[in-house]
Amino acid sequence: MLENKVAVVTGAAKGIGRAIAFALASEGAMVIVNYRGSHSQAEETVKEIEAAGGKAEAYPCDVAGGPAVEAFFSDILNRYGRVDILVNNAGVTRDGLLMRMSDEDWDQVLDANLKGAFHCCKWAAKAMLKQKSGRIVNIASVSGVMGNAGQANYSASKAGLIGLTKSAARELSSRGITVNAVAPGFIETDMTAKLSDRVKEAATGQIPLGRFGNPEDIAAAVAFLASDQAGYITGQVLCVDGGMAM
Ligand code: NAI
Repeated sequence: MLENKVAVVTGAAKGIGRAIAFALASEGAMVIVNYRGSHSQAEETVKEIEAAGGKAEAYPCDVAGGPAVEAFFSDILNRYGRVDILVNNAGVTRDGLLMRMSDEDWDQVLDANLKGAFHCCKWAAKAMLKQKSGRIVNIASVSGVMGNAGQANYSASKAGLIGLTKSAARELSSRGITVNAVAPGFIETDMTAKLSDRVKEAATGQIPLGRFGNPEDIAAAVAFLASDQAGYITGQVLCVDGGMAM
């Protein structure tokens, strides 16, 4: 159970982040629903968590910006006094073949997916080191584990996130902080809704369990890694992908 714990979930207004926010709140955590963009969507998520008996607050912050993330965590610490769980879920795709990929597409993906997680790890770890406890879960991807044609920027960001996970796990372990990654396969969200039927069919053919996953499949794995029961697991990458990357 996560009673009296404060959890930050980035990019949590919709999709996988929203399901993670729900799962942590249903275990009793106070969840900061971080978002960039639509306030109404984040507010909606908070209202639904509250209607289900949970505690949550919507909080805007573009995690790609260093000073903004520092201010975000310092405000949370001032108001709640602690940060127990950080889930780096915010992510974007700008797919395209390597030969045609622009610097802008590369930078946008690396900034949101990798630099954003670096910023959040840095400021959350500061609080967790003082507390001598904490759980960080980074949402990587099967693309970061196996590579994926058309996703050089995205795969690099997610493989980088796995490296960040392992280094942070080694640095923070002596203070009782665990850092792990969850690597989702194809999950039904807005991110995959834009794929063509042909691509979806080809992807399904590569999944031993024969179907796309749903956001709750990822949320369950994250909730476990965020729990006290997972205290002896650190630096790991848990693939939740229907068997794709085995
Ligand atoms: P989504 O597009 O529905 O949600 C991503 C959220 O992140 C959006 O709400 C977006 O506004 C937010 N976000 C993006 N950049 C941000 C920033 N700089 N600061 C704050 N928020 C930001 O996508 P989905 O599918 O829910 O993805 C969640 C995570 O799971 C991402 O990291 C994604 O890469 C990862 N993932 C998703 C897979 C899938 O099949 N849907 C597969 C593997 C990984």
